[in-house]
Amino acid sequence: MIRVAVIGIVGNSVFLPVEHFHMGGETVVASDMHTEWGGKGYNQAIAAARNGARVSFLGAVGESDVSAVLSDAGARGIDAHLVASKEEKSPYAVIMTDASGANHVTVYHGARLGADDVAHFADEIKKADVLLLSNEVSEDVNLAALRIAKESGVCVILNPAPARPICPELLEGVSLFTPNEHETEGLEGRKNVIVTLGERGCFLRETNERVPVADAGAVLDTTGAGDTFNGVLAVALAEGNTQKRACELANAAAALKVTGRFVANAIPERQQTIHVWEKNYG
Ligand code: RIB
Repeated sequence: MIRVAVIGIVGNSVFLPVEHFHMGGETVVASDMHTEWGGKGYNQAIAAARNGARVSFLGAVGESDVSAVLSDAGARGIDAHLVASKEEKSPYAVIMTDASGANHVTVYHGARLGADDVAHFADEIKKADVLLLSNEVSEDVNLAALRIAKESGVCVILNPAPARPICPELLEGVSLFTPNEHETEGLEGRKNVIVTLGERGCFLRETNERVPVADAGAVLDTTGAGDTFNGVLAVALAEGNTQKRACELANAAAALKVTGRFVANAIPERQQTIHVWEKNYG
């Protein structure tokens, strides 16, 4: 079984589905209120685990949430390594989704990993086939993880979300970048980039081709589609698929995710991903 290590955020996600987003000082009424453990990194970890990888995850939470997150992760087959903060609360996100499935997300970062915390996760990075990073954690954390991965020849994928400048060491050391169209600054001219294009699929700079989006049904909620894409892409590349095939599988999984509300339980299992891949690309 291939191994994926993920470093990122895990925290409370509160979903409030609304008919339309606020206009000016308007008050809108949500049709539901759903909470789950989320965060881009945690969602990526769920996607990788559901799609066939043995997954280790490193994140930081407020100390009162440690046992709840460990229990959620354990139930999802994720080996979670948590740094408990006495001072900070866990990350918290409020996510509004409208009738078209679009979302507005507000994140409070709360407890944060420090570069020193990565040392305690070093064995998990060294054992991994792929290390999945994102800009949800500080550059120092990503650099500390990259250095460990490079020493052991581990492939490193950086999802540069949310966008921020990428330092030279990350630019040179990361194996593959997965920005969306708004996160490509600083990655101009690089071939090791897959740009996600939302409903237009994704573009592979390596081969200069676009992989169209898959159809898995009506779109209900686009939250976590990018996280699902990244988690499945990591697994598919680690399993030796070409970038194109890996993108097709990642697109298939993301297309399935958006047919379900919220994130954690809408991320598909491997067999569902393969079924949608066969229907769209097979
Ligand atoms: O990408 C979706 C995630 O972003 C949600 O799970 C939420 O936690 C926010 O961080």
